[in-house]
Amino acid sequence: MSTVETAWTRVQAEAERLRPQHLRALFQADPGRFDTLSARLDDLLIDFSKEKLDADAVAALVDLAEAAGVPAKRDAMFAGEIVNVTERRAVLHTALRGGAGADVLVGGQDVMPEVNETLDRFLAFAEDVREGRYTTVSGAPFTDVVNIGIGGSDLGPAMAVQALAPYHDGPRVHFVSNVDGAHLADTLKPLDAAHTMIVVASKTFTTLETMTNANSARIWLETTLGAAAGDHVAAVSTNLAATREFGVGDERVFGFWDWVGGRYSLWSAIGLPLAIAVGADDFRALLGGARGMDEHFRTAPLAQNLPVLFALIGVWRRNAMGWPTVGLMPYDQRLARFPAYVQQMDMESNGKRVQIDGAAVTTATGPILWGEPGTNSQHSFFQLIHQGTDVVPVDFILGARPHEQMGDHHAKLAANAMAQSAALAFGRSEDEVRAEMAAAGASAGEIDRLAPHRSFPGDRPSTMILYRQLDPASLGRLIALFEHKVFVQGAVWNVNSFDQWGVELGKVLAQRLLPAVKGEAGAQAPDGSTAGLLAHFAAWGN
Ligand code: F6P
Repeated sequence: MSTVETAWTRVQAEAERLRPQHLRALFQADPGRFDTLSARLDDLLIDFSKEKLDADAVAALVDLAEAAGVPAKRDAMFAGEIVNVTERRAVLHTALRGGAGADVLVGGQDVMPEVNETLDRFLAFAEDVREGRYTTVSGAPFTDVVNIGIGGSDLGPAMAVQALAPYHDGPRVHFVSNVDGAHLADTLKPLDAAHTMIVVASKTFTTLETMTNANSARIWLETTLGAAAGDHVAAVSTNLAATREFGVGDERVFGFWDWVGGRYSLWSAIGLPLAIAVGADDFRALLGGARGMDEHFRTAPLAQNLPVLFALIGVWRRNAMGWPTVGLMPYDQRLARFPAYVQQMDMESNGKRVQIDGAAVTTATGPILWGEPGTNSQHSFFQLIHQGTDVVPVDFILGARPHEQMGDHHAKLAANAMAQSAALAFGRSEDEVRAEMAAAGASAGEIDRLAPHRSFPGDRPSTMILYRQLDPASLGRLIALFEHKVFVQGAVWNVNSFDQWGVELGKVLAQRLLPAVKGEAGAQAPDGSTAGLLAHFAAWGN
């Protein structure tokens, strides 16, 4: 048996030992679980004492990480080695926040001078827009900026602009991603082209959705500005030939590099709309927060390493316990887009079925990740998490300090987050329900009828991520925590977390189908179902 197989066997043995033990029993046996099963980095705490594991299980998981080569794989990524083997690329989003250490070499070339120069340049442009030094064609400050991008060229900045709303003192920033014309139309409707800048964000500058929206947005600008419309366009891309062809002046084009994955690109010039919203200092603070997590991830022993522990909890849930999904619930309305952002980061990275060498994986890989902010989620799908037939582990996110001092809103928000996590873990037994109902004067018949419905099994795991306050630095640190978690899980599963071939087929088929959808002569449907759908689409669309 290889060391990795031996480590997996030990993890499975720990799982067999712990599976029959209710979380209530684990807390009764060890009321001090919080002390051993929580970890801190400055004012960021991860409490995983309500997960169905204990110190021995954690030790087995840490051994697994060691056996799977997590430290060596991590060091290879930070050193700029070609870890994205299917695309032959280094993976260095950490370099963008200065967290990869000094002198990061890709192909023998130090990338840091260009990284720093580009950062300075796009932050200077953001400040010029904010301060009205770069103006509209009529010399007025821009009031609105529309970012056109999709996936990694949308989700990161869109999430972060909302998360950092208290720091937003620049022009209004809007995001258009969907090729559905409704998205662009509804976004542009209240805007005045004379005061609006369009940022076209696309790593490849070929993505169908983005280029379709960019072309329509340019026509919208031209209607008001004529030939000067180009002055209201900036672009962020690795494909400088294509940005030129699109007609964006090089002085308003901000590049990045093939070693920055789309879903890891918020830290590059893809963050331009965020920088325009909050300013260069706050953007640098975001990078600084991420850099702190990079440093911790690089240097802390595995057993005290937050991203490693967080990842191993996920491995435990997915592989040892066999739970296929994770609910991510930020108790912060401003993190409403965080689950969608992490969805791409996690599911595009680790939704893989073959290992690095192309062999089929031998374990389940990335979980289905989804979520909504609390407390809203409590009033929609939490019913299933409490009493449904599937176990859905939950990651809660909570800040201790709100930006608004508004009555007791925040205390109520926090009480709900902690109460949900306790209710999931400890539940309410049928005996307790019966005793409560009897004390309230219910009849024996009524108790028999309702007790099964009113009892909660509990024993449902959750992790609480708690920090002082959501600000640029803590947001950067939080995102980097999730990024490195995804990395560690990919390393344990031995998959390439940095390619995304799985999204290609749908793109190719959509292009192939377009002539038939448009009703062009000679275009054929590829199968009977599509033919039937096309016939109805054509009949009802005309
Ligand atoms: O959907 C696949 C994908 O390639 C994502 O990985 C990426 O973030 C998105 O498309 C957008 O790509 P681009 O930035 O090149 O337009």
